[in-house]
Amino acid sequence: MLVSERFFFWYVLDCFFAWVMRNLSFVYFRLNTDLISACADNSREKEVSRKGVEKMVKRIGVLTGGGDCPGLNAVIRAVVKTAVGEAGLEVIGFRDGFRGVVLNEYQVLTPESVVGILIKGGTILGSTNRDNPFHFKTEVNGQIVYSDLSGQAVENLNRLGIDCLIVIGGDGTLSCAKDFMDKGVKVVGVPKTIDNDLNATDLTFGFMTAVDTATDAIEKLHTTAESHHRVMILEVMGRYAGWIALQAGIAGGADVVLIPEIPFTLEKVVEKVRERQMRGRNFSIVVVAEGAKPLGGEMVVSRRIEDSPDPIRLGGIGQKISTELEQSFGIESRVTVLGHLQRGGKPSAFDRILASRYGVYAVKMALEGKFGMMAALKGTEITAVDLKDAVSSLRTVPAEGELVKTAKSLGITFGD
Ligand code: F6P
Repeated sequence: MLVSERFFFWYVLDCFFAWVMRNLSFVYFRLNTDLISACADNSREKEVSRKGVEKMVKRIGVLTGGGDCPGLNAVIRAVVKTAVGEAGLEVIGFRDGFRGVVLNEYQVLTPESVVGILIKGGTILGSTNRDNPFHFKTEVNGQIVYSDLSGQAVENLNRLGIDCLIVIGGDGTLSCAKDFMDKGVKVVGVPKTIDNDLNATDLTFGFMTAVDTATDAIEKLHTTAESHHRVMILEVMGRYAGWIALQAGIAGGADVVLIPEIPFTLEKVVEKVRERQMRGRNFSIVVVAEGAKPLGGEMVVSRRIEDSPDPIRLGGIGQKISTELEQSFGIESRVTVLGHLQRGGKPSAFDRILASRYGVYAVKMALEGKFGMMAALKGTEITAVDLKDAVSSLRTVPAEGELVKTAKSLGITFGD
């Protein structure tokens, strides 16, 4: 073959390869943009053709479920920044927890959608502590019925090509995530709740901000308690775990801390109040968790919400104690119920950092295929733990633990 013929042969071959590559990338580009615009369109039934791109497009879903808490937005932001900005993935945010997955209500999240949300309380995705997909409330012919719509949720996830669902939630939402995992959905959990009662992690984000809020309230109650020589009772959240009451009680210098883990008697509370009076301290601060109960008694239930995974809502123990203090012991007292103030507002610096660490780590877990697991804080390190361990039981305050002993050494009584 002459030199010019050989050159011509290689030239033709080169052109052919260039043509093939150009067309392949065009096909990829078309499929890819089709998928992105399909997601940007919130219409429920838009079908997405994913032929041939499953392996090329990596898409993460994210949702926030259960009672909200400060730091949810910081996690969402960290997920989007890491997934889109660093790993080149796509992120779909589902509206109102698992409700959005059942009803196919979602939005595409880009770095632009998360600008400025680090410091904001609440969640840009919305949340709900009802709407369990396995027991979903619907209306049929004017009748309320509960049906298992988890299959519909899985179909929606598949149709959207969600390769991994990052679920930010407490015990109820993460139990739901575990049930979806059993149905073949690849899930990664992020531990959220002001109650700090999730197992398998040392800390949930949102908790420390709630402690700051409760501590601030105790400080303010101190001044008015002292002026009026009263017992001021602060009722804080904490259904089955008294972490907020305990930690805020220590940080705010409370005299009495009543928590679900240590049943109390009113006589012991009165003993403390009287003992302080004897020392010229004519006021006392009582911090009571909403789930605290008297020895041999029950928690005070304020209402039931039937379609919630945990239908019990607590509230009223503070007022009950106050009434008994006045009627049985002649001790004047006032009650403040801190309620949802503990869940609102901007996250503290501590929670912004913890939430950001969880969000970044959750995406890394997804990329490494650590499904069915939850990001957790162990000591000073973030690590992956089994989701099943996280939801198997609640992490309550050890009644004989170091923190309770510390509080007792500081003179705090638990009414036991
Ligand atoms: O689990 C978090 C929590 O804030 C509890 O401490 C509280 O009992 C409950 O949620 C209140 O829920 P809701 O928002 O339905 O009133």
